[in-house]
Amino acid sequence: MNEETNFMDLLGSPACSLEHCLTVLNGEYSTNQKKEALSSIGRKRDKENKEILFKFTKHKNPEIVMQATRGLLVFKQDEDVIKLLNDLLQHSNDMIRDVAEIELNGRGHSKEKSNNEIPDYLKDVVVEGDVLEVLECVKDESIHFTFTSPPYYNARDYSIYANYNEYLDFLESVFTEVHRITKEGRFFILNTSPIIMPRVGRKYSSRRYALPFDIHARLANIGWEFIDDIIWSKPELSAKNRVSGFNVNRKPLTYKPNPCIEYLMVYRKKTHRLIDWNLKLYDLKTIEDSLVNDDFNRSNIWNIAPTASKKHSAVFPVELCRQVIKLYSLKNDLVFDPFAGSGTMGAAAIELDRKFFLTEISKVYFDVIVKRLTTYSMLENRFSSFRVESFREKVVEYDYNPPNNSKT
Ligand SMILES: C[S@@+](CC[C@H](N)C(=O)[O-])C[C@H]1O[C@@H](n2cnc3c(N)ncnc32)[C@H](O)[C@@H]1O
Repeated sequence: MNEETNFMDLLGSPACSLEHCLTVLNGEYSTNQKKEALSSIGRKRDKENKEILFKFTKHKNPEIVMQATRGLLVFKQDEDVIKLLNDLLQHSNDMIRDVAEIELNGRGHSKEKSNNEIPDYLKDVVVEGDVLEVLECVKDESIHFTFTSPPYYNARDYSIYANYNEYLDFLESVFTEVHRITKEGRFFILNTSPIIMPRVGRKYSSRRYALPFDIHARLANIGWEFIDDIIWSKPELSAKNRVSGFNVNRKPLTYKPNPCIEYLMVYRKKTHRLIDWNLKLYDLKTIEDSLVNDDFNRSNIWNIAPTASKKHSAVFPVELCRQVIKLYSLKNDLVFDPFAGSGTMGAAAIELDRKFFLTEISKVYFDVIVKRLTTYSMLENRFSSFRVESFREKVVEYDYNPPNNSKT
């Protein structure tokens, strides 16, 4: 008993004997204990033990494979370890593939010096036009952060799609472009909720589309790494009333709750770099000036009342934009909303000393944005607005004649 206690105490340190480590690895012990046993073997740094570690890189449990691989990294120059890492690049588990990739090629990619600069033609700019057309002339890795709420399928008249799949294809092409123009390792937050299409008549049923879940796999496929799901919770009274029928008849199977949440799905442009690498691209003063004060949400349920507007039927509350901008960007960063609506993201960006770039297809809403931001930025007169054609001309002119001081 005593001996058992002692060797379990030593598990994880190089002092644990090889014999005891093997007892754990070959016995009925937990994954954590087996990982500790592999860690003890690795820390002995003894070439004689390579064989054992190699054996466990074939294990079914990916955590065991990763721990065994870590133990072999001290011999990273050896041919057999290099071969192992190359084989692991094809492993069926994505986290194991990532470990192999980072060990073989490092955290950076070929372009070592990633830039944190913003082209002048995107700073505090609103463009009227189809976002896909506008983004055609925007360079890769230009923006820092995107927060948007797309048109909700055919729920409003401003955008009509032939079917749900066509709508998802459209969103996928927009978010592929957003991915391209986003800087390495930076964030994208998509605000959506399931969509309800009302029934055509009493004989038929209404249909609900699970938009946040249907779009997720497509986003992951583009290269957006899932980071968090935040629930935007609204007071129940602000929700569409779906429960009233059930409330009267109380018949099981007819229950339809009032929807009072929306999803904020947080993604990061996939990279091997850590967040620290992103922060190191800033000077200390910018980081200091961007520190978030106490008014942030500790949990992933954010209680924020919706805003109604006479100018647009589906606007963000400014407070929602403030929260995401403070948490996912730094001062002077460029924040983007491809479906700008009434321009709430622009208004919040001005308040928080960020630059904004907005696109909006409707001339009516574009005019609303211009009017709104003119009031917000009256003192500084700091923004420009374009039709897509004149925006394109401005970009071409900039490309031919780039200013010397185009730094952030
Ligand atoms: C849900 S609303 C966004 C409202 C916005 N968050 C606000 O706070 O006012 C979506 C907007 O996307 C715009 N839109 C739809 N299709 C578009 C496209 N292809 N390009 C640019 N904007 C588009 C619509 O006109 C609508 O104003």
